[in-house]
Amino acid sequence: MADTITIIDDRTGKKVTVPITGGTFPSSALRELDPSLFMYDPAYLSTASCRSAITYLDGDNGVLRYRGYPIEQLAEKSTFLEVAYLLLNGELPTADEFTAWKHDVTHHTMIHENMRKRFVDGFHYDAHPMGMFVSATAALGTFYDDAKNIFHAASLEKQTVRLIAKVPTIAAMCHRFSQGLPFVLPNNSKSYAENFLNMMFKIGEDYQVDPILARAMDVLFILHADHEQNCGTTAMRVVSSAQSDPYTATAAASSALYGPLHGGANEAVVRMLTEIGSMENVPAFIEEVKSGSDRLMGFGHRVYKNFDPRATIIKKTAYDVFEVTGKNPLLDIALKLEEVALSDDYFKSRKLYPNVDFYSGLIYQALGFPVEMFTVLFAIPRTVGWLAHMKELLADKEQKISRPRQWYVGADERNYVDLGAR
Ligand code: ACO
Repeated sequence: MADTITIIDDRTGKKVTVPITGGTFPSSALRELDPSLFMYDPAYLSTASCRSAITYLDGDNGVLRYRGYPIEQLAEKSTFLEVAYLLLNGELPTADEFTAWKHDVTHHTMIHENMRKRFVDGFHYDAHPMGMFVSATAALGTFYDDAKNIFHAASLEKQTVRLIAKVPTIAAMCHRFSQGLPFVLPNNSKSYAENFLNMMFKIGEDYQVDPILARAMDVLFILHADHEQNCGTTAMRVVSSAQSDPYTATAAASSALYGPLHGGANEAVVRMLTEIGSMENVPAFIEEVKSGSDRLMGFGHRVYKNFDPRATIIKKTAYDVFEVTGKNPLLDIALKLEEVALSDDYFKSRKLYPNVDFYSGLIYQALGFPVEMFTVLFAIPRTVGWLAHMKELLADKEQKISRPRQWYVGADERNYVDLGAR
């Protein structure tokens, strides 16, 4: 069978045959048929917007790979900083490359004092940390006059290092501000995850980060580092296509992540479990979901229609964390929800399974993070993925500024009516 597709315009009988490559065919075929014809694809369900070599995802079979490496192997054997290098550069680092990379990221963790004093301190006392994070990442770019120098490889690399190194510092600063706690400076002798937990929770000189918890945080960072063309990454690519600087593009991607259907879902899961309150209330809640008056947060995924491989790893990580912190009381409700939903035809027929957010919130809560910080915890590692996509996009000769078309359904031409005559 030929690996081609033929599209016939029944109005004119004109047809065009184009190759199918990698499960896609060029939409330019439509323009060949009729330059005024566009595909109507709300939410991009059938549109591949780019070629990418970063992350491979097979939703039907629950496969996720970064640069070819299965997520399960990376979560078990690698570290977040090594994965970050892999995503950005395409290969795992050699020992020397890794030493240099770790040194660079570790030594760019400080932020300018004015970021805190003039910018962060200006927020309202109960500002949402994710709202602060979005604005702070955009503001950070204003401190670097080389921020916009995106076609200079060394400069782009420098902004990349700065962002990856500083997002934990910004995140912890937003948290400490919202809690009225003094800011804790980054500590260059600690690992990426350990330093972040230290900046978040340190009170008193004796505070020590438990290595099991630091490893759990690192695994969560690995699992969230990239997930190909989701809403946030697409926002990153769209904004980057206008050649904006990496800081404002990251802020745009973070804004997308902030939404409850995207990175805000783990926050919504914990709120949902808290509202359900006890295992006895689970069946009634499931009925509400089935009636359409509620949604089972942390369930379902646009791409995974079998299982989310990240959810499997996260469930195991949750038990490692609970060994140290004690069990999160919401765990039993979550397990019951999962059990009831997975045996119910409503969820089975729609291929709705727990996604990455179903258990991550329980871990974050056990680690001591307030729910408002959950999306921020997602944004820290995803910054790496966003920057990898920006780098790839800027080097892609096929890309131009993003500019979709629309199907206009508004009024036909009509004449302006004066205010007094309306
Ligand atoms: N609870 C109940 N029903 C659901 C759920 C859910 N969580 N998710 C989908 N459905 C139902 C829909 O109502 C729809 O039913 P219908 O065919 O009778 O109308 C059907 O399943 C298909 O759902 P869509 O909304 O079309 O699926 P889509 O791919 O657009 O949505 C999404 C995916 C947004 C993730 C959705 O499953 C959802 O809202 N889940 C809850 C929020 C969540 O957990 N988001 C995190 C996603 S992972 C991430 O971003 C990191």
